[in-house]
Amino acid sequence: MLTKKIVLLLAVLLPVPAFSAGGDAKLDKADTDIHNQASLQRGARNFVNYCLGCHGAQYMRWNRMAEDLGIPEDVLMSELMITGGSPHDTMRTAMPADLSAGWFGKAPPDLSLIARSRGTDYIYTFLRGYYADPTRPNGVNNTVLAGTAMPHVLAHLQGLRQPRYELREVGGRSEQHLVGFDAGTPGELSEAEYDEFVRDTVNFLDYVGEPVKAKRERMGVWVVLFLLVFWVFAWLLKREYWKDIK
Ligand code: HEC
Repeated sequence: MLTKKIVLLLAVLLPVPAFSAGGDAKLDKADTDIHNQASLQRGARNFVNYCLGCHGAQYMRWNRMAEDLGIPEDVLMSELMITGGSPHDTMRTAMPADLSAGWFGKAPPDLSLIARSRGTDYIYTFLRGYYADPTRPNGVNNTVLAGTAMPHVLAHLQGLRQPRYELREVGGRSEQHLVGFDAGTPGELSEAEYDEFVRDTVNFLDYVGEPVKAKRERMGVWVVLFLLVFWVFAWLLKREYWKDIK
């Protein structure tokens, strides 16, 4: 009975492994930090310059984002809201969904909650997972989302990796297996710089997915400290109450 209860309790309390839609692709650690404001600011700039053309973040307001990330309103207007609009607007994409669905075969999803549904490691690995594949309409494929409809919009930064295949016998048939990459066409950024670029962008998406996360985490520390101090007083009080009852 008791063991059953303990098992049930553990099942409820243990963190559920993040759901990933990427099948069995191995995900790299994004290692993002929502308390790193400089990284979030760079991520916001990357998002506006490279993602907002196709994807919106419809639950995020420009001015809320600027306030949370310490971006002054004049910088917000001149550097980020380049196409105009009011700071009270939400971060919508200029591209109508029906049009982009026609172009790409699939509408680019809104990215407000993507870090929560897919996880930061998934997006980090996805944006670094492109490689040349002339059989695909965009000329690229992806290790995380095979056959993705999203073009490699960061190709000029990352470069374009060439895949290395190996033929393997599987059940009497020979199958092509992706075993690694050659450098291919170089991009403007080094590999480490590109990883950093993607990390900042994913960090920003993590913030957008839960804007109060940083505050919640900071508050959590105070709550635990309070409980510890409270526990000492509760224990002293209990000792006082029970001291004459033996
Ligand atoms: C040219 C248009 C375009 C741009 C620019 C673009 N995307 Fe996409 N994106 C797409 C399309 C189309 C899809 C749907 C892909 C699919 O489901 O195969 C997509 C899907 C995604 C997904 C979801 C993948 C999944 O597993 O469902 C993520 C995450 C994403 N994009 C992130 C980004 C980020 C971050 C940027 C900016 C660096 C960006 N995208 C820029 C078109 C774009």
